[in-house]
Amino acid sequence: MEKRREEHMDVRNIFLPECFGKKRTAVQKEGFFMKEKLAQLKEKALSEIMASEGLDKLNDIRVAFLGKKGELTDMLKSLKDVAPSDRPAVGQMVNEARAAIEARLEERRQAFEKKLREEKMAAETIDVTLPAKKPMLGHRHPNTIALEEVERIFVGMGYEVVEGPEVEYDYYNFEALNIPKNHPARDEQDTFYVTDNIVLRTQTSSVQAHVMEQGKLPIRIIAPGRVFRSDEVDATHSPSFHQIEGLVIDKHITFADLKGTLAEFAKELFGEETKVKFRPHHFPFTEPSAEVDVSCFKCGGKGCRFCKGSGWIEILGCGMVHPNVLKMSGIDPEQYTGFAFGVGLERIALLKYEIDDMRLLYENDVRFLRQF
Ligand code: DAH
Repeated sequence: MEKRREEHMDVRNIFLPECFGKKRTAVQKEGFFMKEKLAQLKEKALSEIMASEGLDKLNDIRVAFLGKKGELTDMLKSLKDVAPSDRPAVGQMVNEARAAIEARLEERRQAFEKKLREEKMAAETIDVTLPAKKPMLGHRHPNTIALEEVERIFVGMGYEVVEGPEVEYDYYNFEALNIPKNHPARDEQDTFYVTDNIVLRTQTSSVQAHVMEQGKLPIRIIAPGRVFRSDEVDATHSPSFHQIEGLVIDKHITFADLKGTLAEFAKELFGEETKVKFRPHHFPFTEPSAEVDVSCFKCGGKGCRFCKGSGWIEILGCGMVHPNVLKMSGIDPEQYTGFAFGVGLERIALLKYEIDDMRLLYENDVRFLRQF
């Protein structure tokens, strides 16, 4: 009963303000004022929110109304002055006002953020029609291109490509190639010794005995790889460079096979018109030995700056495998013969691409490498 009466009074408080002052107590009056104030406060807050510009301002408004010392919070505190019968209704109004203010704040906050995002996007626009930066592509090194070319030619003739160790026993680099200790040929190749017995190989000829020892005949291989000599660096020398060794062993192999093979190689590498010239030479591991010149592919043999006027360019050393070399690796020189040759890879690359300084091959300057 008591409760219902209060509700009834509550309704009158709201809808019959003209009753104000007649029958009501001071506490009841307070309830009426509060509702008025609340309505005003809410309107004020909402309109301030609508008029606000920017997130900072919005935050100030939040603090001013909903903060610890905010106007609405103050009002909540003075709820105790309201007649108990009015309190629920007034309290509910405070909550509603709070909810309305918060909702409006959130609405505005989202609108501001959206606007900020749009401004940022507009400022960051990328013109996709602008030409892009070209990604820099790597290049195959002139040495690599030359090696692949040489490999292609010999693989085409039925050769196998094999590799041997760069750190090598003295035996394979010298002894097995008919270059015993104290042989004068050792002086020609300034050797890096690792121990008395181990060297950095000075020539890819060191792969010959490794292959022969395996005992599989016939042999038809090329062996490309890095070699080392304690040379000073200049336009034609480097302490580390590359060679390609060739070795063929079979029954009835003659010097004519060697000549035919290298003539074909020269033509494939430097052009169909290329001629070869075999000059007698000496290598301890071949007998007879020769050095091979090719006709200058620049001037066709007439003589130019490129071939230093001679019309010929030296490209490799070769010969018939020395019987001692065959014997040391367990091959009977009465039954088998063979030929061998050794080409400097850098020399081929320099000639083919008309590079006049070997150092360019090792500096890895992209401006140089990009040209190939
Ligand atoms: N190994 C020799 C050098 O480094 C090149 C060479 C010459 C290899 C004659 C051979 C050859 O196989 O028969 O100068």
